[in-house]
Amino acid sequence: MIIKKAWRILTVGDGDLSFSHSLLTNHQPRHLTATVFDTLETMSNKYSENAYQALHKKGIPLLFNFDVTNKESWSTLAKQTFDVVIFQFPLLPGFASFEEFNKTAAQASINTLNRALLRTFLFNAFEHFLDPLGEQLCFITSKDVKPYREWNIENALHQQSHFNYLGSSLFNIDDFPDYKVRNVDRDKHVRDTQGRTYVWSTQATHPFQTLLDKAVYQDKQCCTACRAGPFTTDLDRAEHNASKKHRQMQEFEAQWQAYLTEHQ
Ligand SMILES: C[S@@+](CC[C@H](N)C(=O)[O-])C[C@H]1O[C@@H](n2cnc3c(N)ncnc32)[C@H](O)[C@@H]1O
Repeated sequence: MIIKKAWRILTVGDGDLSFSHSLLTNHQPRHLTATVFDTLETMSNKYSENAYQALHKKGIPLLFNFDVTNKESWSTLAKQTFDVVIFQFPLLPGFASFEEFNKTAAQASINTLNRALLRTFLFNAFEHFLDPLGEQLCFITSKDVKPYREWNIENALHQQSHFNYLGSSLFNIDDFPDYKVRNVDRDKHVRDTQGRTYVWSTQATHPFQTLLDKAVYQDKQCCTACRAGPFTTDLDRAEHNASKKHRQMQEFEAQWQAYLTEHQ
């Protein structure tokens, strides 16, 4: 992840604030506001080690109970004042009960709901959080393994939107000492943190783009959604199209198109 000192940064969905704290300490952005989905009490109970005190002592604005999909939870946020908004390893929160899971799963698949969370984050960040005259950049860091890679992050989220996908860079956890990537609901952290940071902007071309890797598997000889190929023969392509993985991805893509049609 590339961070510039001149940036005013908002972090969204920090688990225990260790990412925001490491970002502040090791990259010194011009301004940082950090937000957590849970209340302070829930976060403290969930993660016995957290960076609340350290950030509070430094006078960093901290907002709890901050749901990126719910405007009413952002009341004290200074709107349209940021250059970059960052959401690290987003994932739908756990379900409180089997009934809640059933109710949510009746609306759409978990795959679609995770994509919808990311897309809503991007829409709200561009409309409400980012300074229209600032850098206009949104970062999402995610892993390139199932189920995250099945969200088709590089291609799906910006469809039928006013923002553009710019590219990605490797997320190297060594650049963020003491950052613990948290599980959604447990006092554990994830050791395998190989990830990529994906970047969007309302600007179709952005100077920052030169520092990013382009979207991969875009070639006609590839299957973009599955991130497979290039296929050298028709047989290769046919075998891929018949595979369980491809048929599952086709299903996810069809569900996503239905969601986009419904939420236009
Ligand atoms: C896998 S955890 C990662 C936590 C943290 N970002 C990290 O890197 O350690 C996913 C996070 O997404 C947050 N999240 C899920 N839905 C959210 C929403 N609607 N608004 C804000 N955060 C959300 C959860 O609270 C959880 O902290």
